[in-house]
Amino acid sequence: MSNEYGSKAPLSYNKYLRVQDLIGLQDCLSDPAHHDELLFITIHQTYELWFKQILHELDAAIEQMSADRPAQAARTLRRVVEIEKVLVSQIHILETMTPISFLGFRDELNPASGFQSMQFREIEISSGLKDEKVLHEFREDEFALKRLEARLAAPSLSEAFYALLGRRGLDAPADVAGLAAEEQRKNYGRRTRAVLEILTHFEERYEEFQLAESLIEHDEYFTLWRAHHIAMVERMVGTKPGTGGSEGVGYLRTTLRKKFFPELWEARTYLDTKHGAAGCPFAGKV
Ligand code: HEM
Repeated sequence: MSNEYGSKAPLSYNKYLRVQDLIGLQDCLSDPAHHDELLFITIHQTYELWFKQILHELDAAIEQMSADRPAQAARTLRRVVEIEKVLVSQIHILETMTPISFLGFRDELNPASGFQSMQFREIEISSGLKDEKVLHEFREDEFALKRLEARLAAPSLSEAFYALLGRRGLDAPADVAGLAAEEQRKNYGRRTRAVLEILTHFEERYEEFQLAESLIEHDEYFTLWRAHHIAMVERMVGTKPGTGGSEGVGYLRTTLRKKFFPELWEARTYLDTKHGAAGCPFAGKV
C-alpha cells in the first residue's frame, strides 16, 4: 500500500514527523564538537519551531478579528500565551551550561546572533511593532526580506483589533501610520479612550474585554521573555559586546521598553471608578 509519502510501507511515527531529517539538522561548528554546542543549537531550533507556530496563530487571530469573531481570536491568542510561557521557562535550560563552557565555542558563532532571527522580527511586526529599520539587518537575505516586507504591508494584530472596535461602535482609529506626529498622538489618545470604555464596561463589552486581555497577556509574556533572556545573557557573558555587534546587555535592556499595544497599558493609568455614567473624566487629556 503506498501512502502520500511515496513509500509502500505503512505510515510510521518516524516517517510522518521526518525524524531522520529532523535529528540530522544539528551541525556543530566546534571541532572536535564541544559537548554543550548541541544544547545551544537544539534550544535555538526549538525556539524557531515555536516561533513558526506563534506566527501561524497570529495570522489566524488577525483573520478572526477581521471576520468579527473576537471570541475565537481570544481563544487563538490563549494558545500563543501558553507557548510563550514555555518559551520563557525554556531559556533557563541554557543556564545549566557554565559560562566557561559557553566561551569554549562562542567564537565560532561570530557574527551570527539571535538579533538576526527573522521569525522573531515577524512576530514583533505582526503584533504591531512596524519598524522598517529592522529590514537593514536582512538586506542580504532575500528570503527573510520578502517575508518581513509582506508582514509590514499586512494588517497587524493591533490594527485588526482597533478596526474591530471601530466596527463595534467605538472611536478607535485602526491606521495611525504615516500621519503627522500631532495627528498620530491624537489617534493614540482616541484608541486609549476606547480601551477605557471596554475596561469600565467589561460586562457589557465582554467579548472585546476578553480579546483585549489576551492581547495584553501576549505583550506581557513577550516582555517577560526579553527580561529572562537578558538575565541569562548577563549571567553567561556579563556586559561583553554581542556576537551580532551590539553593545550586548546594554542594548537588550533598551528593548524592554517595546510594547505591542501601548494603549492597553496606558488605559490602566487613566482608569478610575468615576468612569461610567458620567463618561470619561480624562476626555481631552488622554
Ligand atoms: C548563551 C545564550 C545566549 C546569549 C549569550 C545571547 C546573547 C545575545 C546578545 C548579546 C544579543 C544582542 C545582539 C547581539 O548579538 O549583539 C542577543 C539578541 C537576541 N537573542 Fe540572544 N543570546 C543567547 C540565547 C538566545 C536564545 C536561546 C534565543 C532564542 C531564540 C535568543 C534570541 C535572541 C533574539 C531574538 C535577540 C534579538 C533581541 C532584540 O533585538 O530585541 N538568544 N542575544
